[in-house]
Amino acid sequence: MIGIFDSGIGGLTVVRELMRQKPDASFIYLGDTARTPYGNKSPETVLRYAIEDVEFLLAHGATSIVIACNTASAIAEEQLMRAYPHIPVFGVIRPAIEEALSLKPYSIGVIGTRATVSSGIYQKMLQEAGTSIAVRAQACPLFTSLVEEGLLEDQVTKLMIKKYLSEFRAHRVDAMILGCTHYPLLRPQIARYVGKKTELVDPAAAVIRKVLSDTRVPPAAGEQQFFLTDVAPHTVAIASKWLGKGIHVEKAQVGTA
Ligand code: DGL
Repeated sequence: MIGIFDSGIGGLTVVRELMRQKPDASFIYLGDTARTPYGNKSPETVLRYAIEDVEFLLAHGATSIVIACNTASAIAEEQLMRAYPHIPVFGVIRPAIEEALSLKPYSIGVIGTRATVSSGIYQKMLQEAGTSIAVRAQACPLFTSLVEEGLLEDQVTKLMIKKYLSEFRAHRVDAMILGCTHYPLLRPQIARYVGKKTELVDPAAAVIRKVLSDTRVPPAAGEQQFFLTDVAPHTVAIASKWLGKGIHVEKAQVGTA
């Protein structure tokens, strides 16, 4: 069973892709809604939360882990791989970079949480990939809360998009990585603002292709379970709407959440 986690409902953008590529996939999803957002927390706290999330998923039968959260991937992916050497662990950052580079862009933008952007992980990995493409990164810390609140089409969201992304409208980039799994829920709004010439990159499809083609991940079919550390009705409603079907959500006890 594939274990997937995020700080909240953002990771469902990855789950949706899994359900699209393999409708009968067996997975367990954990959204740490009681402690979201992760992107404003210190690296120590994000690492602790990520370990607790993984422990929960493994205790509930996961045999592989997808870190469906850029923040946790940026801060904790390497440590998780070291801590669980026998479990395949997939982060979202490398697939995002591969997907962006496949577009052969001259310039790349990255938008993400404060923790992801200050980690400099995208610049570091792009350098490691041997490219000297100009990268412009922008933290958009309030986007996560706007998505968790379901304010996708709200006036306040439009204002925040303008506040965070005006530089990308004035000086466009060829490819913009949606470097937080919550952001694809705002994709149409972001696309409308930055314009058609900027290609938006959502790593969900690429990460799921990697997971499903990995021979260490058994092609189990069946059970699909959703856990949240705080089960608020509006969160469940947004999650169901995004996945296009009603879901049954159970309450998870994770760490101190
Ligand atoms: N969706 C997560 C990410 O990809 C976390 C956002 C947050 O909790 O701040 O970074």
